[in-house]
Amino acid sequence: MKIFVDTAKLGEIKEAFSWGIVDGVTTNPSLIRKAVEEERKVKGKVDLEVYVGEICKAAGKGRPVSLEVLSQKASKMVEEAQTLYRRFNPIVGNVLIKIPINTYTGQEATDYEGLKAINELSRKRIPTNTTLVMTPEQALLAAKAGAAYVSPFAGRVDDYIRKNLGIDFKKNDYFDFELMREISKARLGDYLKNPTAKEIPSLYLDEKIKKAISIGKDKGITSGVDLVRKIVNIFRKYNIKTKVIAASMRNPQQVREVAETGCDIATIPFEVIREMLKHTKTEEGVKKFYADAVQAKYEELLKS
Ligand code: G3P
Repeated sequence: MKIFVDTAKLGEIKEAFSWGIVDGVTTNPSLIRKAVEEERKVKGKVDLEVYVGEICKAAGKGRPVSLEVLSQKASKMVEEAQTLYRRFNPIVGNVLIKIPINTYTGQEATDYEGLKAINELSRKRIPTNTTLVMTPEQALLAAKAGAAYVSPFAGRVDDYIRKNLGIDFKKNDYFDFELMREISKARLGDYLKNPTAKEIPSLYLDEKIKKAISIGKDKGITSGVDLVRKIVNIFRKYNIKTKVIAASMRNPQQVREVAETGCDIATIPFEVIREMLKHTKTEEGVKKFYADAVQAKYEELLKS
């Protein structure tokens, strides 16, 4: 699995690349805003064009940088994509354009504009990364329209499921969907005490049972990781070449679980990558080895 760093902060991007584990960068308008606000505090003002150019350079050739469009209509999105591509791709040739799968916000009928834009850009050979993907169906349509990448937002799906359940959680908390499944199965058990064949049709239609089985699911999706897994499985079945980027990663365990799905890439915030390195016993071991090395006068071995 490739790792992209999910940030627009230049310092984080450069640092993460220096570790030799990062294969690309993803940004979005919120991440650009955070980075620019931080940069402004330090430098007073920021030339956004120069700043984004620096991100592309820092990533380097062969390591994609996703830049997102702003508008909701396909024609505008295509124009913006072309501008971004013309402006930043010549630097090292690594730009991907992020297009939301559906730009409908409750006003104009723009639900299919994302697909139109993806399709037109694919015909113009401008590679796209479909963003804000929350269902396998959206991913399938994006792939059919010609998306080079799709980004299922695993963390936000977890947020949605937990919020609907009324569970209190912090942004980076791990969502234990296995536990949810067990709870939901146990609850179902209350209703299904050895049903006879005759009882099955009415049980099938029973609203209470339907409710019990749908606990902790969003349209049949049990978690963000489940969403990624389903997309990977569908793409494999049909030999779809579109790459799957597990996005909206919140914690190391979630990264491990998306890695197990066989997805192509996980885009991970800088702090979550750091979290992936941590373990109490590692820290304890380092302290003990150091203390023993001092006692053994180990530094004598290391003198050049
Ligand atoms: O890669 C998508 C990401 O930037 C969104 O993450 O944590 O805001 O849901 P988050």
